[in-house]
Amino acid sequence: MTDTPLTEPLPRAACIIAVDGPAASGKGTLARRLAAHYDFAYLDTGALYRAVALGVMDAGDQIEDESAAVRAAENLNMARLEEGDFAARLRTADTGLAASVVAAMAPVRAAILAAQRQFATMPPDNKAGAVLDGRDIGTVVCPDAAAKLFITARAEIRAQRRFTELRENDGSLSFETVLADIQARDGRDANRATAPMKQADDAALLDTSDLSIEEAFAAALARVEAKLNP
Ligand code: CDP
Repeated sequence: MTDTPLTEPLPRAACIIAVDGPAASGKGTLARRLAAHYDFAYLDTGALYRAVALGVMDAGDQIEDESAAVRAAENLNMARLEEGDFAARLRTADTGLAASVVAAMAPVRAAILAAQRQFATMPPDNKAGAVLDGRDIGTVVCPDAAAKLFITARAEIRAQRRFTELRENDGSLSFETVLADIQARDGRDANRATAPMKQADDAALLDTSDLSIEEAFAAALARVEAKLNP
């Protein structure tokens, strides 16, 4: 066994913040703002499932086809997530619904688990930490995260937020359709057998229904600070 020379400091473990919650709860905005605040890297894990769904559809396969979804997950190109046209297609309501179908498949989740853990434990650009948002970050991907938040809001409020967001690109969309999509997705995400969306035992709950973005961020930051700098 070789000893690590005293002059070489051991690599510092990355500080991980896990942010989970249902669609349009505000978790993405809060996770991004927390990452900016601490100068940590940020990963939107929902974008990975959305990209897998697009991969299946672009290959001309059925969204329920598990082997096609696994193929798409294994060929996932993280660099594409930021590309203009692809990034815009990732955010549509249809892609969100399709993502929740492939996300219920255990082999798809397994195929992208390592990439998420790698991002969390070795954040890009030598950042000292990472903020990941999703559905199972605090429970499955990073159960040892230093701080965990579970962000929620009433379904009607979430649907209203998402409706306002999506309406910019699709004027034909109705509030009722968005609400129904969100409820269908919530049901699938919370009731699937593998890594269902749920609050980790040690996650702090934050309901953003009646909070402005600033108020929600202040509340999120206070909960994270209580864990990181008690
Ligand atoms: O932005 P929004 O909250 O609407 O959704 P998203 O975070 O982009 O996630 C899209 C879908 O991916 C979700 O409905 C889940 O089915 C799935 N997902 C997941 O299963 N696990 C994650 N860690 C992240 C997303």
